[in-house]
Amino acid sequence: MFEFLPIAPPDSILGLSDEFTSDPRTNKINLTVGVYKDEQGRTPILATVKKAEEILLRTESSKSYMPIEGHPAYLKAVVDLVFGKSIDPARVAASQTPGGTGALRVGADTVSRHFPGARIWLSNPTWANHGSIFQAAGLDTQVYSYLTVDKTALDFSAMVGELKSQGRRGDLVCLHACCHNPTGIDPTFEQWREISDLLAEKQMVPFIDFAYQGFGDGLVADAIPLSTLLERNQEAIVCNSFSKNFGLYSERVGTVMLVSRDAKSTEAALSQIRQAIRCNYSNPPRHGAATVATVLTDPALRAEWNGEVDGMRNRISQMRAMFIAGMKATNASRDFSFLSAQKGMFSYSGLNSMQADWLKKERGIYIVGTGRINVAGMAMSTMPTLCAAIAECIQATS
Ligand SMILES: Cc1ncc(COP(=O)(O)O)c(C=O)c1O
Repeated sequence: MFEFLPIAPPDSILGLSDEFTSDPRTNKINLTVGVYKDEQGRTPILATVKKAEEILLRTESSKSYMPIEGHPAYLKAVVDLVFGKSIDPARVAASQTPGGTGALRVGADTVSRHFPGARIWLSNPTWANHGSIFQAAGLDTQVYSYLTVDKTALDFSAMVGELKSQGRRGDLVCLHACCHNPTGIDPTFEQWREISDLLAEKQMVPFIDFAYQGFGDGLVADAIPLSTLLERNQEAIVCNSFSKNFGLYSERVGTVMLVSRDAKSTEAALSQIRQAIRCNYSNPPRHGAATVATVLTDPALRAEWNGEVDGMRNRISQMRAMFIAGMKATNASRDFSFLSAQKGMFSYSGLNSMQADWLKKERGIYIVGTGRINVAGMAMSTMPTLCAAIAECIQATS
């Protein structure tokens, strides 16, 4: 059977990371992958996670199965973290999933079982995995414009214009609540209000990917687009991930949340999510969710975690500001100050694939061919090398 299989193409970003690992140069810099790094280039385990794990080690008494929808205390804490007081929790059917990816897939599967071939609108560009996840679930993916031609800002009129003219009642619209991946370019609060009005008017359903809560403007501020969307729209699918803001990448902790009009619809929605999960992975892994629940429900640990998230966000902002200033100091022919309006780990640098190739070949600096850079991969110690190399690259390739 398997001898007839063709070789599937490798994941482009992970492929670059493999190349980076086998690159023998000692001054190489990796700005490709989607994980947070500290100044030393490590992806640390948060202190609050270690403390929660110590508590669990002492107190956990069973590794029996969890309910299909996951850890009850975790679910309650997540709904509170994501929605705050903006809606009645009785309207949210929440289920723990293996990471944000699992949340997107379970959400899409749940819709697709009852509305096969439903359409979902994705921004162009969007996170590379969105299209594959939604198509694998049987949804029909459509794209809406997101960026201006020079790829440095949001083309809001094109975005809403296309959704308005081509969107249909019952279509889903995938939106990044904050820290748009791969561009770092988010709508303003006023624009969120317009998006919310448009979806309500067209009766389209927001499918919100919330993978970076706390990495934009803060844990509470980053949730404002959600409450704005829910002011006018009675239904939504919200997917969160604790990979980034808890550093729990490999523990696979996320949540899918179906927001319905009323408690009766919530009950039906949860029963459908359960069915989608049961025939997939049956029930979720316990450890990561138990860790998150322990931190979020203990006031002291929660306050400490807030500080840890602030620390990661502030380091990213500092790196972004240092990079902009560093590029200015090189007198490069390109101005990078547009990056200051971007949020989160990723930025669209405006560099093209030829320049990405030049940087890799000539200087051992790895960025994605689209020009996406992981700002969290930058460090104070390597900033001068990075800026000088990019300035040289721009000169050599223009
Ligand atoms: C926009 C976006 N959504 C979802 C995810 C999935 O996160 P997880 O690793 O929790 O599956 C990512 C991860 O990079 C992401 O960038």
